[in-house]
Amino acid sequence: MVKVAVLGAAGGIGQPLSLLVKLNAKVDELALFDVVNVPGVGADLGHINSDSKTQSYLPSSKEDKTALAAALKGSDIVIIPAGVPRKPGMTRDDLFNINASICQGLAEGIAENSPKAFVLVISNPVNSTVPIFAETLKKKGVYDPSRLFGVTTLDIVRANTFISQLFPQDTKPSDFNVRVVGGHSGETIVPLYSLGSTKKYYGELNEEQKKALIHRVQFGGDEVVQAKNGAGSATLSMAYAGYRLAEQILKAVSGETGIVECTYLNLDSKIKGAAEAKTLVNGLDFFSLPVVLGKDGIEEVKYDILNEVNDDEKKLLQVAIDQLSKNIEKGVAFATK
Ligand code: APR
Repeated sequence: MVKVAVLGAAGGIGQPLSLLVKLNAKVDELALFDVVNVPGVGADLGHINSDSKTQSYLPSSKEDKTALAAALKGSDIVIIPAGVPRKPGMTRDDLFNINASICQGLAEGIAENSPKAFVLVISNPVNSTVPIFAETLKKKGVYDPSRLFGVTTLDIVRANTFISQLFPQDTKPSDFNVRVVGGHSGETIVPLYSLGSTKKYYGELNEEQKKALIHRVQFGGDEVVQAKNGAGSATLSMAYAGYRLAEQILKAVSGETGIVECTYLNLDSKIKGAAEAKTLVNGLDFFSLPVVLGKDGIEEVKYDILNEVNDDEKKLLQVAIDQLSKNIEKGVAFATK
């Protein structure tokens, strides 16, 4: 019996993400939680004739914690695209404070109702919200770093697509699985194109093309914001990316071995390879790296790729590390104040 909860299920990301989870045959129960509109989403998805049971949960007031508790109880995987988008007149700090509080409240709910669940954080800024989840779960005494995931999969998805678009005759996006490390915004995103599946094609690009490709991956979200012309940011591609990580976790939970995905994780020494990774990223507590997934969560951090990068990538990593250190500090300060 596998139960998946989506928190923020009525949003732009939450709805298509919930649809994808609904279609996964490994899921027995889908719990949809939001503070608005979620009964409609539940009724709509509930008509789909896949075999999972769909329930929606809407709190009756701001103080009502029973709906969240019911959605979370018994959940094996909790996916979190809850939050608010930036509105006119709002600064980045205003946005951070609102989303940080939402994340803190949801983390408390998870600690009380589903402390053993895998937690997949989509709410931005991921570089800071994941540390908020970690600190809040820690405070409640239920923290397991091998089950906390910051979803950076969209950066990988974009990195695969964008390099393939440069070689349309010879490649397709699914030929690639770019290792994208670091964080999940702007220059904290570091695609390691010089390694693995992209090495050959990346080597054929000139310096200007390489720079443009990396910039496109780092700021790919802006293309969507501009194209949507004021109507929001990436939702469908983000939902796909969040689902892809959830799907891999569902496979690992059901016993499949050898699954490797990149995720933004806490480099806690309890996890194999985390201490080595932490040394390579100047002591940062959080970083996105490929990890081996198992039944109980993250089994191993694959840090070796950090030793294989070229000089240009080393410079990109240094910029990412400097920015991430501030982002992580901001999340930790919020959660521990
Ligand atoms: N609990 C649950 N859901 C909440 C809460 C809360 N405390 N607060 C807000 N929500 C819900 C909103 O009601 C809304 O349905 O979260 C949903 C967010 O949806 P959108 O506003 O459409 O935003 P979306 O584009 O889906 O992005 C959500 O993910 O990628 C990040 O930056 C993005 O932080 C943002 C989040």
